Amino acid sequence: MDKLKIYGNADLFGSIDVPGAKNSALPVMVASLLSQEELILKNIPNLQDILSMKKLLESFGIKIREEKNIIALNAKQIINKTADYDLVRKMRASILVLGPLISRFKKIKISLPGGCAIGTRPIDIHLFGLEKLGVKFTFEKGYIYGQIKNNLVGSFIDLPFSSVGATENIMMAAVLSDGMTTINNAAKEPEITDLADCLNKMGAKIYNAGTNTIQIQGVKNLSRAEHTIINDRIVAGTFIIAAIMLNKDFLIKKINPKHLTNVIDVLVKMGANLEIGKDFIKVLKSDLINGIEIETKPYPGFPTDLQAQIMSLMTLANGNSKIKENIFENRFMHVPELNRLGAKIKVKNDEAFIQGNNTFKGAQVMASDLRASVSLVLAGLCAEGETIINRVYHLDRGYEKIEEILGKCGPKIVRLK
Ligand code: EPZ
Repeated sequence: MDKLKIYGNADLFGSIDVPGAKNSALPVMVASLLSQEELILKNIPNLQDILSMKKLLESFGIKIREEKNIIALNAKQIINKTADYDLVRKMRASILVLGPLISRFKKIKISLPGGCAIGTRPIDIHLFGLEKLGVKFTFEKGYIYGQIKNNLVGSFIDLPFSSVGATENIMMAAVLSDGMTTINNAAKEPEITDLADCLNKMGAKIYNAGTNTIQIQGVKNLSRAEHTIINDRIVAGTFIIAAIMLNKDFLIKKINPKHLTNVIDVLVKMGANLEIGKDFIKVLKSDLINGIEIETKPYPGFPTDLQAQIMSLMTLANGNSKIKENIFENRFMHVPELNRLGAKIKVKNDEAFIQGNNTFKGAQVMASDLRASVSLVLAGLCAEGETIINRVYHLDRGYEKIEEILGKCGPKIVRLK
């Protein structure tokens, strides 16, 4: 199992180009299941989760061609409508095939996704929305069986929580349904809007994605389309926080700052010195970074996917900080590992109290989930001495060869086999 060795007191200079968004690439790849024509996707990042999704889609018979960051998916011939446990357990986003497969094949069998380090991650809201469209579900031996008599029928669906995955699943299922579907209390993340843009290029009729209420007018079929996905606001936010922690000038290119409004507001309130361009964010040296109190919220609130990273920054800030995690019930797995690196963080229920004015000292630590692992990389870069991060397969799910990308800008990170 790979490890990363991070040399502390890292230098940082130059710039990075932000890659395509993992959480946009995954749902748009699944959207190919809805069409009998080819879907060409561009700006796809080179990540472990993308490989897992390719394997899952190929297990249904989808033909996939790829060249660098472009993939072509053709779902004309589907041979299998079962998503088996071994593939689904590796990646929660596999559950997104539920809606498209039922919409196209009227019946499916899919393994219930396992939980993961950050929580049980149920799918009740996904099932609630699909049942409103007419799906009948049964459950047996860890599998979900879904089927409909004729076709999905448009409906008014009021989500109990603005779940990102449930909004995507229901939106995709409604594309080929009969009639109009309204999703109320829909998730508003940029990745939702990106999926809707892709589906509309394929011939869908989706209105007001990115707002609380999305309408989908069912169509009969979809046609060949090309779509370039948005860039990854979480990867961008991660590198912005790294530059602030190291207090170095650094340029983050190819990002839409509008996707990070709340994050920028919080960092500037803490004292960060940011220059905001049309498609870049430049971090400049700052005099003092102060602690702050924040809570994670659905978009456009502070993203839970940057919670671990900003916690690393808060450890170095002047004065104490507090984070309330409202999205996942167990997303503080990075706390004991950051404390091993010298942080002083206490957790009480869904709140973390971070003592400021601390420094990090290199140590052996363990990655637990994707974003927790990158918070340890950030701490390691600022630490006295060397840090070894175990189980970096978590990191590889969402960050392309971080040791190479950062390696070009100063930090020394070595991958140990
Ligand atoms: C998406 O996960 C992202 N993953 C997550 O990013 C992100 O943290 C999350 O949205 C929130 O922004 C992808 O897009 C592939 P949710 P998702 O459904 O769709 C509960 C990363 O690091 N819930 O909005 O699973 C759920 O348990 C990953 O890239 C139900 O209770 O998130 C959680 O507490 C991590 N029932 C909360 O809602 C349901 O049916 C948010 O989940 C669905 C969700």
